[in-house]
Amino acid sequence: MKRLSWAFLFLAINVVELKTNPKIVVVGAGMAGIGAATRLLELGFTDVTLLEASGEIGGRIGKAQMGKTWVDTGAQYIHGVVENNPVYCLAKKHGLFENVPKEEGSWSILTDKGRKVDEDFAEHVYKAGELLLHQQSDDCDNNTMGDYFAEQAQKLADNWEDDAENRNLISSVLRKLGKDLLITTGALDLKNVSLCSWQHFSNEIKGDMDIGGNMFLLPSKLLEEFPKENVLLKKLVSKIEWDGSFGVPDGTTYPVRVCLGDGEEILADHVVVTISLGCLKAQASSLFSPPLPEYKVKAINSLEFGSVIKIILEYEEPFWESDVSKISLLWEEENILTVKDDPSQWLQYLDFFTVMRPQEKFGNVLIGWCSGRVADHIDNMTEEELSAAVTEHFRAFTRNSSLPAPRKVLRSQWHSNPFTRGTYTYIPVGTDPEEMDRLALPLSSSKATKPDPQVLFAGEGTVKSLYGTVQGALVSGRREAQRLAQHYLKATAPPATCPFAL
Ligand SMILES: Cc1cc2nc3c(=O)[nH]c(=O)nc-3n(C[C@H](O)[C@H](O)[C@H](O)COP(=O)(O)OP(=O)(O)OC[C@H]3O[C@@H](n4cnc5c(N)ncnc54)[C@H](O)[C@@H]3O)c2cc1C
Ligand SMILES: *[C@@H]1O[C@H](CO)[C@@H](O)[C@H](O)[C@H]1NC(C)=O
Ligand SMILES: *[C@@H]1O[C@H](CO)[C@@H](O)[C@H](O)[C@H]1NC(C)=O
Ligand SMILES: *[C@@H]1O[C@H](CO)[C@@H](O)[C@H](O)[C@H]1NC(C)=O
Ligand SMILES: *[C@@H]1O[C@H](CO)[C@@H](O)[C@H](O)[C@H]1NC(C)=O
Repeated sequence: MKRLSWAFLFLAINVVELKTNPKIVVVGAGMAGIGAATRLLELGFTDVTLLEASGEIGGRIGKAQMGKTWVDTGAQYIHGVVENNPVYCLAKKHGLFENVPKEEGSWSILTDKGRKVDEDFAEHVYKAGELLLHQQSDDCDNNTMGDYFAEQAQKLADNWEDDAENRNLISSVLRKLGKDLLITTGALDLKNVSLCSWQHFSNEIKGDMDIGGNMFLLPSKLLEEFPKENVLLKKLVSKIEWDGSFGVPDGTTYPVRVCLGDGEEILADHVVVTISLGCLKAQASSLFSPPLPEYKVKAINSLEFGSVIKIILEYEEPFWESDVSKISLLWEEENILTVKDDPSQWLQYLDFFTVMRPQEKFGNVLIGWCSGRVADHIDNMTEEELSAAVTEHFRAFTRNSSLPAPRKVLRSQWHSNPFTRGTYTYIPVGTDPEEMDRLALPLSSSKATKPDPQVLFAGEGTVKSLYGTVQGALVSGRREAQRLAQHYLKATAPPATCPFAL
């Protein structure tokens, strides 16, 4: 009998503890923050505030004016051209596929010896290399992507049935694949990247779709129905106090206090933190009070945040054929064994350009991609230096000394941006991909008898199956909204028109 009444009391306390309309603050208006905030609303929470440090929503989905229009300075492609990819579905639903070029376009490949490489040949070698990389061994734990790549690429090149002249080209194409992997991961050296990186990655990520420069529209489309007055821009969160009891005059108390750079403070029941891993690395030790538990600090320290730069070039006239959608530069004599960037040879890492299409919309715009330390080096150059170097570079490869200089040069500066501090998360050698799951775990009150998620974490780097992507960010935010719904025993929201997760 006694036991039973205790149980009743316990239940009663728990019921009392659950507010009917909890105050929820979401930090960061990137895709993760937008995913969390919009889902919370769909689930029936009404007191949701979205705080963003910069003057714009979108985070790493960014834009800059170039030529006749805007270009995406961050995310640009939809990775995973499948209906059950929520980002593909949402982009389609919001009409972002208008003006998207129907044909794929051709690949123009030039070498340092002034040769033009046959597209079908290069495609064939590149695909064979990709296939090899995806057949990974089971014991990936302590192996590096760099070593594995070097070994496999060498084997493939050695066994390729072709004449000696093409051998060099085969190696060059494979090395190009290695350099692309540096861009995919954002790492400085493929030897820093764990071979386990794709162990848990979604195999739905097949096919990349160029959506004609419309990616930057997605964040605002998703926030269309979210109350404008609850999105606060230029609100830098400088401190998150949790596991406390902060009162307001009417007697209500809140366990969380979010302090802003301008001295303002917001009390809340829950805070969903979506700032990038780069920002967590820089600020985790000062941002939280009480400090983060050890396991969380370990996850933040052991995962890496890479760096990639996009160089956006606008030309008066195109020097490429009208059907070209990408341009690659190959060095014929390069050794394929190591893929590691080198700032002194930075131009060797500026080897890949996408042509912005359709031309009627963009004019003549190329986007060059570079990774790692090279990105820092380019960040430091003046616009004139960069323009001159790029022009020299193209003139050498086309053997045309009258090739024009770009009219305008822009570069994305995610690395030096204090609200990003890099581009995306990667898994370094020796780090378990499951550290991403630990990064995602919420923090509960020390006094709680059952989990009471006060500080929740979302963001691209918290999803081991989709990190580094827009949909990874989106589903991580939705995951945390769902976690709160479960806590408040809310029924799941009615099915949306697009899938919830991939
Ligand atoms: C150059 C580049 C190219 C990419 N290309 C692609 C691609 O083609 N396809 C693809 O799917 N993905 C791509 N990605 C990855 C994709 O952009 C990201 O995975 C995704 O946008 C991350 O969203 P997020 O919400 O996790 O983080 P973020 O977008 O970084 O959002 C975090 C937000 O928090 C804000 N913030 C930071 N600190 C504070 C603070 N203290 N207080 C308040 N607010 C704060 C930031 O300003 C930011 O708005 C690319 C990324 C980059 C950088
Ligand atoms: C990987 O290396 C670590 C540290 O050197 C070691 O503890 C671990 O057992 C290794 N794992 C495998 C699968 O070899
Ligand atoms: C990458 O690897 C090199 C050499 O192994 C090492 O010196 C460097 O610290 C590593 N960098 C990162 C970011 O892990
Ligand atoms: C870039 O400039 C900063 C500040 O001037 C300097 O500290 C840094 O070393 C430079 N980086 C490179 C790669 O040149
Ligand atoms: C060199 O480039 C210019 C500008 O694109 C072009 O007009 C010219 O025909 C090119 N010359 C050769 C030899 O291809």
